[in-house]
Amino acid sequence: MIGSATGVRIGITGLGTHVPERVLTNAELAQIVDTSDEWILERTGIRERSIASDEEAMTDIALPAAQEALRDAGVSGSDIDLLICATVTPDMMFPTSSALLAETLGAGQAAAYDLLAGCTGFVYGLAQAYGMVSSGLSRRALVVGGDVLSKILDWDDRSTLVLFGDGAGAVVMEPVEAGGFLGFELGADGGGGEHLWLPGSGSRKFDDPASYVKMNGREVFKFATRIMVYSAEQVLSECGKTVENVDVYIPHQANKRIIDYAAAKLGIPAEKTVVNVDRYGNTSSGSIPLALADAREEGRLREGSLVLMTGMGAGLTWGSALMEWTTNGRVA
Ligand SMILES: CC(C)(COP(=O)(O)OP(=O)(O)OC[C@H]1O[C@@H](n2cnc3c(N)ncnc32)[C@H](O)[C@@H]1OP(=O)(O)O)[C@@H](O)C(=O)NCCC(=O)NCCS
Repeated sequence: MIGSATGVRIGITGLGTHVPERVLTNAELAQIVDTSDEWILERTGIRERSIASDEEAMTDIALPAAQEALRDAGVSGSDIDLLICATVTPDMMFPTSSALLAETLGAGQAAAYDLLAGCTGFVYGLAQAYGMVSSGLSRRALVVGGDVLSKILDWDDRSTLVLFGDGAGAVVMEPVEAGGFLGFELGADGGGGEHLWLPGSGSRKFDDPASYVKMNGREVFKFATRIMVYSAEQVLSECGKTVENVDVYIPHQANKRIIDYAAAKLGIPAEKTVVNVDRYGNTSSGSIPLALADAREEGRLREGSLVLMTGMGAGLTWGSALMEWTTNGRVA
């Protein structure tokens, strides 16, 4: 799916993030599985990640992010009429995490549903909210992206354990005076789904009842480096922009090597690329909002900055969103 914005400008007016308190370093992981700080850093660029406690589930880490996004936008839960929660680790299949969040936030009038698109979930959520708000069906949306992947990892499998972390982010989306989203490109390839999967997590029965993330790292790496470039080029061309126009590049934070490859191939210099995988690992749907928040914190998001976000993940799925950052605020 690909398309550029027409008519109404829809932007981000509030942004919030949250990661669990507990930080797990590479050295600590080396106490659990046969790995080393050196290996992890060299192959992935990751130094540490946040890990949820036994009691913490998806909505526990998403709630503070959602509350911060609402505060940042200067609105309350009752001002939200659409709540999308992108996650592959909901508290449970139902009630959905989005319905639980809507209840806690006081968003009683909101349509609320969970969205499953692997690590690309947040970008899919942005596109859905864009469509709903720009059509006038929704007035103001809250898009939450996050995961507690630590709960579905095999803690004996070093090939996956070292890559992921827990975290969440949220944005408020509504009509704005200037800037806003310019276009989206989204895709999926179920044929490659076997390279990153969670057997036993749904209605299909498997011999092994254990439900842990299974991954063919090399295949996912090949897919990631190809698709991150393809999707970014597609959305830029659809919106009549070039890589030279990009001010801030926010790639999914899976692996520093994947980010470096994509940025180099696209021709986006390091100073325009946001990298925080070293501190959080791969937080799945939390990764792009966490990077967006870091970019804002560092003063990199200015009025009119062209921001390119590209995600990829299980499905296999991918997606890009292109937007002009605005601080001008909502349409009165
Ligand atoms: C997982 C990944 C880091 C592995 O890096 P790689 O350079 O491809 O490494 P390989 O898989 O070739 O493994 C090299 C060796 O390291 C070993 N190894 C794997 N994980 C290890 C770990 N955590 N610590 C130490 N050694 C490890 C392997 O067993 C292998 O040993 P061998 O050569 O004796 O067989 C890389 O493939 C990757 O990032 N893939 C994409 C994963 C991803 O982003 N998934 C999420 C997408 S949303």
